[in-house]
Amino acid sequence: MLTVNPVDRIQGKIKVPGDKSISHRAVMLASIAKGKSTIEGFLPGEDCLSTVECCRGLGVEIRREGTSLEVDGKGLDGLREPENLLDAGNSGTTMRLLSGILAGQPFLSVITGDGSLRKRPMARIANPLRQMGAKIDGRADGKLAPLIIRGGSLTAIDYTLPVPSAQVKSAVLLAGLYASGETIVREEFLSRDHTERMLQFFGGNLERRAGSVILRKSELFGQPVKVPGDISSAAFFMAAAAAMPGAHLIIEDVGLNPTRTGIIDVLREMGASIQIDNLYSSGGEDIGRVIIEGRKLRGITITKEIMPRLIDEVPVIAAIAALAEGTMRITGAEELKVKESNRIAAMVTELNKLGIQAEELEDGMEITGSGKISGGLVESYGDHRIAMAMAICGLFAEGPVKIQNSECIAVSFPGFEKTLAAITV
Ligand code: S3P
Repeated sequence: MLTVNPVDRIQGKIKVPGDKSISHRAVMLASIAKGKSTIEGFLPGEDCLSTVECCRGLGVEIRREGTSLEVDGKGLDGLREPENLLDAGNSGTTMRLLSGILAGQPFLSVITGDGSLRKRPMARIANPLRQMGAKIDGRADGKLAPLIIRGGSLTAIDYTLPVPSAQVKSAVLLAGLYASGETIVREEFLSRDHTERMLQFFGGNLERRAGSVILRKSELFGQPVKVPGDISSAAFFMAAAAAMPGAHLIIEDVGLNPTRTGIIDVLREMGASIQIDNLYSSGGEDIGRVIIEGRKLRGITITKEIMPRLIDEVPVIAAIAALAEGTMRITGAEELKVKESNRIAAMVTELNKLGIQAEELEDGMEITGSGKISGGLVESYGDHRIAMAMAICGLFAEGPVKIQNSECIAVSFPGFEKTLAAITV
């Protein structure tokens, strides 16, 4: 159980662990590329370690020392049939992206995960991968994991995403590496595009147009990857600093890919002061320093257009909405119901426990700021982002906030508690 005590000030300079989405993709692409890849700044959180173990299970040699990895890529056709179940743990990204690769393999794989992952929807990837020619079965008519995938020769499809999801887009693109013809994925609002950027970095034949991406069967080649800090991890501290008048926080080497920076736009619209400098790019990703100064914030309305660029940050926005003036209305966020937990129900229930007025909407939630958060005992639902969002509430509360089952934070942010201690006085 994590106990977070109220603080008077937030200040300092921090770094956050490597980007989760990019770490997953780096390991997967390196595994099917020709030759050696190195990965620096890898996130050694449980989710990304699940990806490493799954790739090892497919015969890839991966050496890891802390945040540095060396991967002996097998080439597109060099993976071998796993001897045992592949275990994606808590990680939707591992299961969904890897399924795209497994769909192209001439062997059988069975991929499973923990209790939370086995409840999450998999038809969204199984359907397009079946259309491409893979045989996929699973519980509930192939809608739930464990998934049984018999891959084979695939045919390209032209696919419009029925749900806004980078994981689905990525699964289809990765399968497209193995498919004859042109794989096209179309989406209404651009979701995180790390797969596209990294495929290009690894030499993939990929073309981007407004609203669509086109991939032709292509070989990948090992590369040196540098993983930026995860803006979704930085977001907890950005939001906390933004909401505390007088706070001054610097976060170095944060990934600033425009498909991930919705949190900066939202905090600015709420009245926060956020500056960005020291910008550079590496492996096709933008990286920079973020400087946040705390202000009194105001509640705003968030709608579906921004959601793909913001989705993982909604829990922490809901947390600081309690401190903002007026009402925060978050809409177009139904995807939150099928994350590691139902994040709408979880946040509303736990915020209520701390005396915050919050209500569920059909596709989001509404929080009325009163500037007051009481201390208390809350639950994480085994969901890392719920646990960390509640920890941020604790910084502003009138008494300690105790978060039960907080060990799940290690899924994406090993060292969270230390970083929290480093910026608070
Ligand atoms: C991710 C995509 C998002 C996000 C998840 C990571 C990715 O999920 O919520 O944490 O790495 O592609 P969806 O694709 O389900 O929206």
